[in-house]
Amino acid sequence: MIDEATAKSKYWVEEPPIHAHPDAVALIRHYRPEYKDANSMVDLLKDIRLKAWKIKYYPCVGLWHFFKFGMMQLPIYPEIIQRLKDGQRILDMGCFMGMDGRKLIMDGAPSSGVTNMDLEDRWFPLSYDLFKDQDEFKGEFFGGCDINDEELFGEGSIHRHRYDMIYIGYFIHLFPPNRQQKIMNNLVQMLRPVAGSMIFGNTAGTAKENGYKMKADFAPPVRNEKGEMERPDFVFHSTKTVVDLMADSVMENEDEEWEFLAQKTSFDTDTSPTKAFALHFKDAEIVEVDFCMKRK
Ligand SMILES: C[S@@+](CC[C@H](N)C(=O)[O-])C[C@H]1O[C@@H](n2cnc3c(N)ncnc32)[C@H](O)[C@@H]1O
Repeated sequence: MIDEATAKSKYWVEEPPIHAHPDAVALIRHYRPEYKDANSMVDLLKDIRLKAWKIKYYPCVGLWHFFKFGMMQLPIYPEIIQRLKDGQRILDMGCFMGMDGRKLIMDGAPSSGVTNMDLEDRWFPLSYDLFKDQDEFKGEFFGGCDINDEELFGEGSIHRHRYDMIYIGYFIHLFPPNRQQKIMNNLVQMLRPVAGSMIFGNTAGTAKENGYKMKADFAPPVRNEKGEMERPDFVFHSTKTVVDLMADSVMENEDEEWEFLAQKTSFDTDTSPTKAFALHFKDAEIVEVDFCMKRK
């Protein structure tokens, strides 16, 4: 982890992007109607965001990226809502404060079909401070769950083959490129083994056709093949490389057929205007890459 001052210089925007994201403002007002307009919730947002930042200096926290609903950009969003209304279950893996799940609920999905899961369990109390919905939320929160951990998805786990849909928002890029195929396969093991089950999400991507790799300055150093400590690689996927990743993750499931989709959308520059950020990523041609893999 980099120190706070360095993290702040690249990944910190003071004011919440309330005017760029009316959906997020509407979501908070849905749960907290006492906040009559966007401006009135600024202090609350800053307070919650600062507490989250002190837990971990994630770029998506400092830059307010969590204030955007990646899931809604996908053409399958109406299908997701309908499937939840029909009684299916979604897992939001790496859910942070569970914003996307709450958006699904506001848009008509029953909360009983929403499972939030994260490595960190301190996000959930914070999310109740923000939304105050602990009495009405009938879904699930599982903290302390590491997607690298075989016990989470292996034989005997309650999560194995349980979920109709798994959402991974700004998640897969947290892992070194040579681990990502395994991570995707771990997630597949949590999906119900039936036609239509799917994993979908978004990631920090690139417009470059074959992806773009650089060193992740926000991740802890790891030992390389020569035994030296170095920052792990960070990969920006293109639509092509993310489809390859999804296909490779199920290549050993020979009796199954999958369809893979990827699209690029613009990266949210409203929440990433720092000069240090722009300089750091100047060669990356950053876009957002949305993707979905669905079992046929
Ligand atoms: C960049 S945030 C994305 C949050 C949210 N999904 C979004 O789209 O804004 C990544 C989240 O993944 C969680 N996470 C990181 N490593 C994880 C792991 N190994 N297993 C499960 N969750 C993890 C972090 O705690 C964090 O909440």
